[in-house]
Amino acid sequence: MPTPMIEVEAVTKRFGRVQALAGVSLTAEAGSVLALLGPNGAGKTTLVRILATLLHPDSGRARVAGYDVVADAGPLRSAIGLAGQYAAVDELLTGRENLELVGLLYHLSRREYKRRAAGALEQFGLTDAGDRTVKTYSGGMRRRLDIAASLIGRPPVLFLDEPTTGLDPRTRNELWQFIEDLVGGGTTVLLTTQVMEEAERLAHRIIVVDGGQVIAEGTAEELKDRLSSAVLEARVTRAADLDRAAAVLAGLGHGRPHIDPDQQRVSVPARGGTRDLLAAGRRFEDDGIGLDDLGIRRPSLDDVFLSLTAAREPGRPARQQAGAAASQESR
Ligand SMILES: Nc1ncnc2c1ncn2[C@@H]1O[C@H](COP(=O)(O)OP(=O)(O)OP(=O)(O)O)[C@@H](O)[C@H]1O
Ligand SMILES: [Mg+2]
Repeated sequence: MPTPMIEVEAVTKRFGRVQALAGVSLTAEAGSVLALLGPNGAGKTTLVRILATLLHPDSGRARVAGYDVVADAGPLRSAIGLAGQYAAVDELLTGRENLELVGLLYHLSRREYKRRAAGALEQFGLTDAGDRTVKTYSGGMRRRLDIAASLIGRPPVLFLDEPTTGLDPRTRNELWQFIEDLVGGGTTVLLTTQVMEEAERLAHRIIVVDGGQVIAEGTAEELKDRLSSAVLEARVTRAADLDRAAAVLAGLGHGRPHIDPDQQRVSVPARGGTRDLLAAGRRFEDDGIGLDDLGIRRPSLDDVFLSLTAAREPGRPARQQAGAAASQESR
């Protein structure tokens, strides 16, 4: 059996009236990437903070690298790195000073932390900016510095809370490559993300959380297969037809259609034979709904995410969730 590096058992956490975590259990094996997906407020950051010893759970147990997050918080801290959702770098210090400070906290020798700080600046394209105060950094530079800081201690377990938020596509790709290399070298990574492409590319396993609970888990392919064999998708010519198009698809697929107003697209999980496609074409024709595109495709992780989380939150704005509800609410 592979060794779990992260083991979470029935962890709960409440903030006043908000049950941020309502009994979460999960494991991540050594040298793997576990991605936590979930809508805003799902409890992802709360879990990361508990695992990084910054918060105590109300109940349940969690071990990271063999250390209990409460009882062994001290020794655990030297086994983990954390890049939080909001960069935790000191504005008034330079990039280099920030990194050296982290090295100091890991009890590295002066020579070693200087060497690692210089290496990290280089690795994250910050050498030129290294001796400027962080105040003068752009959002993406801060993000990179924060991630560089989380790696200074070369921790065997790394927590990355939405690591690529605010990074441009090139930097994002470089970071993904970098994470893959780290994991190839044996590091265990738990990351939270809203970017499905990121989960798809990096994660060995995905855990979907909503309302403080795990609502699905598996590999990306397993989650897609579980949703449906296919997705039926139409792009309407006129935005005004979106709700009616959703009503058409609601009658053909299973589950509730999703409306993407920006792309003027409507989609629904479906069996996905040509019969469904032809039936859809006919219905759109009969209802006089003009289409730019109609097709069947394999489900994406986006489809999985939308389907899982929309089903649980009837209060969400109609345009982001289901067509059935959306069409009733249309004026
Ligand atoms: N310190 C706190 N005090 C009060 N409520 C909190 C605190 N931290 C988190 N919460 C609440 O707990 C719930 C979970 O928050 P959390 O930050 O873990 O969500 P998240 O999944 O990380 O969301 P996001 O995707 O927006 O980052 C939210 O309802 C949030 O408002
Ligand atoms: Mg968060």
